[in-house]
Amino acid sequence: MLQKIQETADFLKSKISGSPKTGIILGTGLGNLVTQITDKTEIPYETIPNFPVSTVEGHSGKLIFGKLGDVEVLAMQGRFHYYEGYDMKAVTFPVRVMKAIGIENLLVSNASGGVHPDFEIGDLMIITDHLNLFPEHPLRGKNFTTLGPRFPDMSEAYSKDMIAKAKAIAVRNNIKVVEGVYVGTTGPTFETPAEYRYFRTIGGDAVGMSTVPEVIVANHSSMRCFGMSIITDLGVPGKIVEVTHEEVQEIGNKVQPLMTLIMKELIKEI
Ligand code: HPA
Repeated sequence: MLQKIQETADFLKSKISGSPKTGIILGTGLGNLVTQITDKTEIPYETIPNFPVSTVEGHSGKLIFGKLGDVEVLAMQGRFHYYEGYDMKAVTFPVRVMKAIGIENLLVSNASGGVHPDFEIGDLMIITDHLNLFPEHPLRGKNFTTLGPRFPDMSEAYSKDMIAKAKAIAVRNNIKVVEGVYVGTTGPTFETPAEYRYFRTIGGDAVGMSTVPEVIVANHSSMRCFGMSIITDLGVPGKIVEVTHEEVQEIGNKVQPLMTLIMKELIKEI
């Protein structure tokens, strides 16, 4: 694994000209932020050695190196989900590579179902913490101390400093944000009403199928993390209706520009 990480990092370093400290993982269909990146170098995943091979035909996504404002960033447009069949080492491999390239701050986005009774469709949620309900842990197995400790601390999995900065940015720009705990689960089914109730009962505010594995590995690698969810549907008693992937994407599209603004401003301040 160590050799593969290094190989991939060396390949990417040979393709990019700067030394970005900020990495971004954009949820499926949440590529709006990429339109703001200038001086772009785009590297399709299928051309990157050791990157997981897409299970979906055609577009698996790409890495984009460039500038957001004045800041160099390395963005992943599209991620690898556990439900697609990848094991957790594959899902989180890009985070390992980001660390090896020199990334220190990781920003992640996703779409999720709100289970907090006050949440509304289209809300932007700053992730304050998570609950890991994936059946496989990305750090299970031999630990390489060069990558991180055997028993990593998770007391501040999402940087309090970045959360405070993002909230201030939202206030300054008149953007409504909510805060909450993200429950990471496998999917690919959306939840039954009983499952939504369960996630609320155990302390969740929103539920989705990603983010948690990447944030665990980023913490293992001593990276600072910040995450935002777009609440695309509600798993709240009385408000549960049929959910489709298309609706999730449609709501995601509408709200993306606000999330982009917050992330862009935040990147300037970290
Ligand atoms: N559940 C799980 N994942 C999701 C949801 C949901 O309701 N909405 C968007 N991603």
